[in-house]
Amino acid sequence: MTARSRSIVSRQTGPHEDLARRVARALAHPLRKPLAEHTREAFAGASDWLGRRGGGPLILDAGCGVGLSTRRLAGRFPDASVIGVDRSADRLSRDHGRLPDNALLVRADLVDFWRLALDADWRPAGHYLLYPNPYPKAAHLKMRWQGHPVLPVMLALGGRLELRSNWRIYVEEFALAVTQATGVPASAEPFVPGETCLTPFEQKYHASGQALWRLVVELPHDPGLVPAG
Ligand SMILES: C[S@@+](CC[C@H](N)C(=O)[O-])C[C@H]1O[C@@H](n2cnc3c(N)ncnc32)[C@H](O)[C@@H]1O
Repeated sequence: MTARSRSIVSRQTGPHEDLARRVARALAHPLRKPLAEHTREAFAGASDWLGRRGGGPLILDAGCGVGLSTRRLAGRFPDASVIGVDRSADRLSRDHGRLPDNALLVRADLVDFWRLALDADWRPAGHYLLYPNPYPKAAHLKMRWQGHPVLPVMLALGGRLELRSNWRIYVEEFALAVTQATGVPASAEPFVPGETCLTPFEQKYHASGQALWRLVVELPHDPGLVPAG
């Protein structure tokens, strides 16, 4: 991965004007997309692994890419079980060394994985969304997590949720969506990584001199956020 990386280019100069409507819609209308069989199987495997771990806090690394952050979080929180989820088999297959015993990488679509996790009453203590795809075109708001119908499910899982991005507007929108959905105050703050970046994308953006942004919020476990089907 090269150190040079371009900043986000978008016509948006602030949060999307349609955001509040999208969030209201996600809170009112159930997500009806059928669950993919491969994600059911992946979730069952993750559940078995978690059962064998026999307790301790759960940390989700949602959209973990090559899984470097999953490894690093597992090292940072040795008592936790850290599950990295990504839909890209290619990224997950890259060799970044042995996985610690308290880490698991799962190939799955988060839109389904999060719903299965909520149904199974998973209560992550920590939930990381590290550099999600920004989808900077205004027309693609619904593909950003804050504009996606799965948002209430992701938030309902609860725990300490941390989002990082190199696009300030993404984090500002996410903060607005969190507060609209849960009533919990949230805001975007500048973020400077320490000596060791948590992910390859963080490394790339930081090395290119880009400003980074993050949001950290503690959320209650609240399945009632999700509209009934
Ligand atoms: C920009 S990359 C960031 C990867 C990693 N977190 C990092 O910072 O290096 C976004 C990742 O999210 C994954 N992703 C996007 N949508 C997803 C979904 N619906 N389910 C699972 N993974 C998804 C992509 O495959 C990609 O690996």
